[in-house]
Amino acid sequence: MTASEKQKIAVFMDTAQDFFTSGYRTYSEASATMQKKYYFMDDDAPAVKPDQSDGFPVNVNDSAKSAYTGGRPVEQRRSNGSDDSLEKIAAEVKACNNCSLGGLRTNAAPGEGVTQPLVLVIGEGPGAEEDAQGRPFAGKAGQLLDKMLSSIELSRNTNCFIANVIKCRPPGNRDPYPEETSACAHFLERQIIQLKPKFILIAGRIAAQTLLKTTEPIGRLRGRFKELTIADMTIPLIITYHPAALLRNEDLKRPAWEDLKLLRIKIEEISGGN
Ligand code: URA
Repeated sequence: MTASEKQKIAVFMDTAQDFFTSGYRTYSEASATMQKKYYFMDDDAPAVKPDQSDGFPVNVNDSAKSAYTGGRPVEQRRSNGSDDSLEKIAAEVKACNNCSLGGLRTNAAPGEGVTQPLVLVIGEGPGAEEDAQGRPFAGKAGQLLDKMLSSIELSRNTNCFIANVIKCRPPGNRDPYPEETSACAHFLERQIIQLKPKFILIAGRIAAQTLLKTTEPIGRLRGRFKELTIADMTIPLIITYHPAALLRNEDLKRPAWEDLKLLRIKIEEISGGN
C-alpha cells in the first residue's frame, strides 16, 4: 500500500472519529504529533528539495523547466517578459481610488506572506483591525486562520501568502458591492500571476463566489477540489468556511477541518509537502 493510500484511510478513520465524538480538534502539540504519525507516511520516495540555484527540483531537466509554470523565484518571473511585481501591485493598491472604498480607508491591506507560496489563501476583505494595521487577517478571525493553517503545517511566515478579493474595508464590514470587487479584481489576478502558488485556499462565501463567478452557496462549493485557470496556470483550489463564520458557528468547524485535511493530502500527493 502506498503512503498516499494509507493517508486516505487514516483521514477517513479520523473523520469518522470526529463524527462519533463530535470533536473538532483545535491545534495542539498533541494533535500535531498525531497528524505527523497518521498522515505523513514516509515510505514513499523522499520528496526532492528544490535546487536553490533555479528553484526547481534537482532532477527536472531543462525542457521540463521551460514548460513549467509553477513557483519560480520572483526575480526570474520578473525577467520572463513581465515588468509587474508584488511591490508594484502593493504600491498601486495603497494609492488606489478606483472605487469609493479608497476614500474611506485608513490603510489598504494588499496582502502578506512569502513570495513563492505553496498556498495562496484568499479571503474577503479587510475588517476594522486590518484597516488599522494595513495587514490581511490581523484580527480575531486572522488568529483563528493562523491556527487552522498551522494545523496543516502552513504559515504566512514560511509557505503561504494571504490576500483578499478586495483590498479596502467596506464600511461596517458589509459585503462588498459588485462594482467594488470588479474594480479590485485586477490586483488579485496580478498577485496570483506573480506568486504562482501551487495551491489556493479560499476562505468564505464572498471570496469563493467572486473568484468562481458563481452564486452557488458555500455549503455546495466547499469540500472538493476545483481549479482556477489564470494566465497560463491552472491551480488546484479548495474552498472552506471563513474563520469568522467558524467563530460564530461551532458546527462549521468540523467540515472546515475536513477541508483542511483534504488540502494537506493534496499537497503531499502533488508536491511532496513542499
Ligand atoms: N476577513 C477577511 O476576509 N480578510 C481579512 O483580511 C480579515 C478578515
